[in-house]
Amino acid sequence: MYSKLINWSLNEFSSLPWRKKRNLYTTLVSEIMLQQTTVSTVLNHYPVFIKKYPNIKSLSKISEEEICIAWKGLGYYRRARNLLKAAKTIDELGSFPKEKSELIKIPGIGEYTASALISIGDDRPELAIDANIERVVSRLYGVKEQKGLKLQKKIRTELYPKIEKLFKTYSSRELNEALMDLGRVYCQARKADCSICPMKSRCIAFKKGKPLDFPEKPKEKGSKKYYDLKLARFVVLHQGKVLGYVKNEQSWLSGQVEIPTFIIKSEDSSLVQYPKVRKVIKEKANGKIKSSITKYRIENHYWVVSKADFERISGISKGYKYFKFDRQMGNFSTTTLKILNKVIGD
Ligand code: ADE
Repeated sequence: MYSKLINWSLNEFSSLPWRKKRNLYTTLVSEIMLQQTTVSTVLNHYPVFIKKYPNIKSLSKISEEEICIAWKGLGYYRRARNLLKAAKTIDELGSFPKEKSELIKIPGIGEYTASALISIGDDRPELAIDANIERVVSRLYGVKEQKGLKLQKKIRTELYPKIEKLFKTYSSRELNEALMDLGRVYCQARKADCSICPMKSRCIAFKKGKPLDFPEKPKEKGSKKYYDLKLARFVVLHQGKVLGYVKNEQSWLSGQVEIPTFIIKSEDSSLVQYPKVRKVIKEKANGKIKSSITKYRIENHYWVVSKADFERISGISKGYKYFKFDRQMGNFSTTTLKILNKVIGD
């Protein structure tokens, strides 16, 4: 039965770039990229990244800034810094450890990445439980637990003895990836195409007639989904350079460069990402763009001003410096880039 699933996966998806040439390093890179990013986005970025940094040695030598630049377009930059930390440690160790207990000691490698390195990278028996595998297994075996940590624990304790037996017959790598493919293509969270699924004849959720009921949805917390946020952003240009600052470890997008930014109004009073404007800005903004990050819907109002006017309006003169504005190379945040492109023109 699993042969049908695996054959489907091999036929359809063997050409994914990270499945063509494999080793533990390429698996580390692709699995970290794939954790919070869709396959279609990773498809475009992975080959460029691997060409630039083809092995642990080449990656371990670079700076945080360089990896964040190479990570552009993939988002969630913490992953880039974690990948760099992992590469530096593995380079010092001389090779990837074999045991999961050793792998998870490496900074930047968590439970999922360690499991993926063992199963997908090394083709040794292990289940790499990502959101797709969690859902697919819950449906196949009819486990009606709330998705997330509780369900993962149930899979590890109650189902693993059954799943482990499969590795006697099937390649761990092929089985893991086939289950991931199934979750991405036919067995999605809100849509299950059971009629064409290669696993339908042995799927308990399908037999029960309600595949989408597995796994259970998390209980509504009753909290607000989005917070509106209005920001003031200042564009101060000087001899081809732009005034800005590097976002710190505690901020969103840490390590990236942003233009000076202040909160005009926030629905979430606990937000400490930016300072509040010190006084009402009377000048009319030069423009406005919308953006969003985590649970915030943001209106970015921007003013193009001289340094003196920026200091007068904001009441702040310290904490910023000039950065060379280079669209290709600079480690600017996406919103800063969008604003600068509007102001300077393409
Ligand atoms: N999601 C996480 N890892 C994956 C992989 N190796 N192939 C497809 N989707 C994935």
